[in-house]
Amino acid sequence: MKAFLLGCGTIGKTLAKAAEDMDRVEETIIFDKYPERVMDFVSSLTKACVTDSLDHMAEADLVVEAASQEAARSAVPAALALGKDVMVMSVGAFVDDTFRERCRDLSLEHGGRIMVPSGAISGADGLHSAAAGGLRKVELTTIKGPRSLRNIDYLDEMGLDVDSFDDITVLFRGSAREAVRNFPRNVNVSATISLLGLGFDDTTVTIVVDPHTEENRHILEAEGDFGSLLAETRNVPFPDNPATSYLAALSAVAALRRAVYNEWVGI
Ligand SMILES: NC(=O)c1ccc[n+]([C@@H]2O[C@H](COP(=O)([O-])OP(=O)(O)OC[C@H]3O[C@@H](n4cnc5c(N)ncnc54)[C@H](O)[C@@H]3O)[C@@H](O)[C@H]2O)c1
Repeated sequence: MKAFLLGCGTIGKTLAKAAEDMDRVEETIIFDKYPERVMDFVSSLTKACVTDSLDHMAEADLVVEAASQEAARSAVPAALALGKDVMVMSVGAFVDDTFRERCRDLSLEHGGRIMVPSGAISGADGLHSAAAGGLRKVELTTIKGPRSLRNIDYLDEMGLDVDSFDDITVLFRGSAREAVRNFPRNVNVSATISLLGLGFDDTTVTIVVDPHTEENRHILEAEGDFGSLLAETRNVPFPDNPATSYLAALSAVAALRRAVYNEWVGI
């Protein structure tokens, strides 16, 4: 099979390297906004090539978006309209209800599947199952160091300086929809949890700064007819990109493997 990879940064490079070891992948076609930055990397691989046109999505069996929400908003519907299976890492794009419904309609009309890896959080499997019955409460608490929470307009407007706290402090508590609006660089986990469970308006998100941590910690709690669920993930950042958790890149690799080998265990 051929994979088309949109975005060759932290996650994209991890995926392209992993695809080298997947015997069913014949070719990885890479499109990046800055092709000159990825040439050296691509030349170190045996199955990858660079393209300057999204038109080559038509040749692929699977399109993987690992670029940005902006890229997802244009390329995901285009790939779905071609009937392609599409894996989306910039899941925050689905906060937009109109965009999400358009993608769902294109998927149903043309037969391509939308795949959203669990990303930087664990417990997504249980939440997914729980949502098939009565689900009453879903709460996500995200705890990050000051470095991951700097330069956020919402905090500036509230007069909050994330470097000024000596103790663990709650910065925000509200719906997932408000959380993704106020913390645009922290949207992906809130979006994934909302899509799996109660939606953006009924999922509660708390954002906490811990002055003594470099980890990105996510605590997922859910209650429903199934009982209750508590999943804590203590993520180490990707070595050369602290904005992305290592687990998010691993989740993309695991999802690619599932799609390539058509093995759907634990879905
Ligand atoms: N689902 C999750 O839990 C999760 C976790 C981490 C990151 N993400 C998301 O996945 C995406 C990729 O993350 P990353 O850490 O690899 O980012 P990155 O910044 O390391 O890499 C992004 C790459 O995409 C390219 N790019 C950006 N816009 C583009 C466009 N319009 N067209 C083509 N290429 C474009 C950039 O040049 C860069 O090479 C981001 O949107 C990020 O928010 C999701």
